[in-house]
Parts: sequence; structure tokens; C-alpha cells
Amino acid sequence: MGDHFFSAEPTSADVRRTVEARIWDKPYVFTTATGVFSRDRLDIGTSVLLRSVEPPSGAGTFLDLGCGYGPIACALAVEAPAAKVWAVDVNNRALELTRLNASAAGVSGRVRAALPEDVPADVRFDQIWSNPAIHIGKPELHKMLLQWLSRLTPDGVAWFVVGKNLGGDSLQRWLTAQGYPCHRTASAKGFRVLRATTTRSA
Ligand SMILES: C[S@@+](CC[C@H](N)C(=O)[O-])C[C@H]1O[C@@H](n2cnc3c(N)ncnc32)[C@H](O)[C@@H]1O
Repeated sequence: MGDHFFSAEPTSADVRRTVEARIWDKPYVFTTATGVFSRDRLDIGTSVLLRSVEPPSGAGTFLDLGCGYGPIACALAVEAPAAKVWAVDVNNRALELTRLNASAAGVSGRVRAALPEDVPADVRFDQIWSNPAIHIGKPELHKMLLQWLSRLTPDGVAWFVVGKNLGGDSLQRWLTAQGYPCHRTASAKGFRVLRATTTRSA
């Protein structure tokens, strides 16, 4: 059976390389590896998300849902020096790389890379950022999104990037129907950027 980037424990050899990227006008060099999503470059969807949304600056607790090697989590922590960032993934190799990359970016004290079940149940998020794992299938995707959106603070906001061909528009409608009013804030290179809130802050 082929290895996939969302395997919990990739069976492929852990072959590492580095990827250079500019995020919010700052240079990064990320370590990536086989068995991890988009190991050859900053993913185009992730890049569309980070280019089209202003960086956060305030304090708070943020979540990078499906962090991969951690580009979103690291950039959030760099931009918002008073924030704590949870970087969650089911892939242990991705979590290890996120820790390495957070350390290289000087933010290891504020980025916690963890399996979903290892995030304490009482943690709430002021912001959720995600290039979500669409390939896990709609039922799993919906379950995962509802699980984390229910942990948004009342004034919290969630940002998603989803390919148009991968159901970005139907996800927008679905999120709104679930009680998380959701608007498309940008569209580029075949990706939709979505902003969802709780009904209170909509
Ligand atoms: C599209 S990738 C995005 C990775 C990274 N954020 C980036 O921009 O390069 C989605 C990630 O979600 C992870 N994932 C899959 N199922 C998950 C789940 N149930 N909970 C959390 N993360 C999951 C995958 O392992 C993968 O790393």
C-alpha cells in the first residue's frame, strides 16, 4: 500500500530537504521530508491563503489545523509574538518537522505541535487557520471541522483555503448551514479563501 502524506507513521524513508519561502514578506527556510504534504515547495493553496489574508498581530491562542511541516503555524507565531499556536496533525513526521521548523524560526516556545487527541479539551482558539485535508473524504472532513470549530471563542475567526475543484464553494455553504457563517474573501489560482465565524461574531 502506498505511503500517503496523512499516514500517521509514514513508512517511506525520511528523506529531508529544504524549501525556501517568503511569507508576509519574511524569508523562511523550512525542512520538509518524504511522507509529508507538499515537501517540494510551499503549497500553492497555502500560499494563496497567506497572501490574501493580513497576518495576525494580537495575542491569543491560534490553531493550524493539519499543519504538515508547519509553514502556517511558524508564520503565525512569527507575526504575532504574543500568541500561542497549536499545530495539529495526525502525521508524526509532520509534527517532528513542525517542531524543527518552529525552532529554526525562533518560535519553538510558542508553537505546540501535537496529535489532535493531545490538545487539552479546555483549550479554545481565537483563530483557526487551515489548508484542510480534503482527501480524507467528506464525512471525515466535516467531522474534523466541526470538532475544531466548536472550540472557537465566541469572537473567533477561522480561515480556510480549499481548491475550487475540491469543493471550496460547497464547503462554504456547508459551514454556513452548520452555524458558522462563511464568506469567500479571495479566489486565486483555483483556490477559494474562506472566512468563517461563530454566529455571535458574524
Ligand atoms: C493539505 S495538507 C496542509 C499541510 C500544511 N498546513 C501546509 O500548508 O503545507 C493537510 C494536512 O492535514 C493533515 N491531516 C489529515 N487528517 C487530519 C486530521 N484528522 N486532523 C488533523 N490533521 C489531519 C495531513 O496529514 C496534512 O498534513
